[in-house]
Amino acid sequence: MREDSLLSPMLHDDVELTLRPRSLDDFVGQEPVKERLRISLEASIKESRPLDHVLFSGPPGLGKTTLAAIIAAEKGVDFRITSGPALERPGDLAAILSNLHDQDVFFIDEIHRLPRAVEEVLYPAMEDFQLDLVLGKGPTAQSIRIDLPHFTLVGATTRKGKVTAPLRDRFGIEEKLDYYEPTDLARIIRRSAGIIAVEIEEGACELISQRSRQTPRIANRLLARVRDYAVARAAGVIDLAVAIEALTVYEVDDLGLDKVDRSILEAIVDRFGGGPVGLSTLSIAVGEEPETVEDAYEPFLLQSGLIKRTPRGRVATERAYQHLGVMPPSQSTLL
Ligand SMILES: Nc1ncnc2c1ncn2[C@@H]1O[C@H](COP(=O)(O)OP(=O)(O)O)[C@@H](O)[C@H]1O
Ligand SMILES: [Mg+2]
Repeated sequence: MREDSLLSPMLHDDVELTLRPRSLDDFVGQEPVKERLRISLEASIKESRPLDHVLFSGPPGLGKTTLAAIIAAEKGVDFRITSGPALERPGDLAAILSNLHDQDVFFIDEIHRLPRAVEEVLYPAMEDFQLDLVLGKGPTAQSIRIDLPHFTLVGATTRKGKVTAPLRDRFGIEEKLDYYEPTDLARIIRRSAGIIAVEIEEGACELISQRSRQTPRIANRLLARVRDYAVARAAGVIDLAVAIEALTVYEVDDLGLDKVDRSILEAIVDRFGGGPVGLSTLSIAVGEEPETVEDAYEPFLLQSGLIKRTPRGRVATERAYQHLGVMPPSQSTLL
């Protein structure tokens, strides 16, 4: 990972990189996950061997990539990063694997989107640190076997259900990241405010943490936008009044829902009579990819009890109607 962002956080555009914790101690919350990782890390360091392969799952923005980088940092090894869709051919994977060093961390984001042919090359690489390659085609094709460095594969997925069973079986460590409690988000916001050097009052910190959809990435983004507002339209300090005004301007409501979240709820309620409505129809209605709706938006709406998934599609709950200030159909027909 690039280190210059550490030296010049205020000049760096990529706020997310700047705010990324570099060690397990800096990583807020997820205590049971951290404890288990700590144990396995300590053991692998004591015995100078690579950490077992790790699979992280959970909704976007909860810290999967961050934890993968932390594992490499704690081990003091190199961190190589790629993603499932980027590995188009077995050769792409072979090129990376053969350039790793012992104990290096090789991170594959969106590992559920790995092409089948690449995944099959990955099995013996993970299991026996061997690469089986077929050179050439037809009757002259030759199969060769290459020894690989003993690396650690860290995979991340927003869809554990889409990771094939044989791939899942090859991970020794599986951890699911959960949504964060407001108190953890408040700690993350305080830490981030310190790094971007903005003063934030406790009430404002709590407000932002309650509206961050229980997600650190969103907490950091909201903090950055509220900071902009504080600098441009106020005295530069984030107090409660500034935070409330800023979140109103950015259309983040009291549940932390943004425009897309609300348009999903509104579509179900207004256009599809409260549901059930299928994912693809719903996605077209809100102008997002089905995968984006399913992976990035729905998990929090489900978690908050605003929608439900039924075999026939998505349904708005009474809480959704309340939140939108619309009368649920059962009640309105009584009138
Ligand atoms: N537990 C945490 N403590 C502090 N910051 C976190 C934590 N988890 C995530 N973040 C912040 O949120 C951002 C998004 O995290 P990331 O690891 O990219 O999520 P994911 O890979 O799960 O989508 C990171 O840049 C980091 O700053
Ligand atoms: Mg990530």
